[in-house]
Amino acid sequence: MATIVEKFFDSKDALTAELSATLEQSLISGIEADGRAVLMVSGGSSPAPAYKHLSNLELDWKNIDVAMVDERWVDTEHDKSNEVFIKSTLLQNHGAAANFVTMKNSAVTAEQGIAKCEAAYQQLKRPFDVTILGMGPDGHTASLFPHADGLQNGLETPQLVCAINAIKSDVTGDITQRMTLTLSAIAQSKVVKLLISGEEKLAVYKAAKAGGDVNDMPLRAILNHPTINIEVYWAP
Ligand code: 6PG
Repeated sequence: MATIVEKFFDSKDALTAELSATLEQSLISGIEADGRAVLMVSGGSSPAPAYKHLSNLELDWKNIDVAMVDERWVDTEHDKSNEVFIKSTLLQNHGAAANFVTMKNSAVTAEQGIAKCEAAYQQLKRPFDVTILGMGPDGHTASLFPHADGLQNGLETPQLVCAINAIKSDVTGDITQRMTLTLSAIAQSKVVKLLISGEEKLAVYKAAKAGGDVNDMPLRAILNHPTINIEVYWAP
């Protein structure tokens, strides 16, 4: 089992306040210890307020690398692009000075884009200071989707990134081709913050934690990992 600390809050505002404070502290500590800090970011509604808060802080942003946890293989102007989302939330105000490491490149497919993306991610300091993960109602995290083409590789490869083609569902929408951090990369983080909102997703998290097939709920690979240090943030 991973080391799991569950932090349950009464409100999203309380979650955001605590999350923002701990992210700020991790970035400061990372820079103090190593000269640079690395923050791995997910999309989703849960982290957005903390990203906006952080963007207003006077941190040593030029020594912070912000890198994507996962990305849809869409144009970088696309409204479903996580890159667009991070630019419009975290990389505003003071945060605009951070070094942004993105996943999408000019390759036609995510598979063809792996080598360039992997090379960029290999340049980042490890362990990463913080990796922020969300969770879908299907038990996916990052873009490790249930029974996806590429999932097995993503769980087993020592590489940092991999291509995924998810099975189309209400959760994936039309865009099933993704790039994502691998399980190995996620494990190379000082701390993983798993953000969960609402009762429905809380039940999904509990079902994942109770055990079962990793292919049905890839979040289990994180929860079962022997060395990952996870903090679960939940708010109604
Ligand atoms: C995706 C979404 C997804 C999202 C989670 C958590 O790539 O399909 O970005 O992975 O991060 O569903 O979303 P919330 O933060 O809104 O709960």
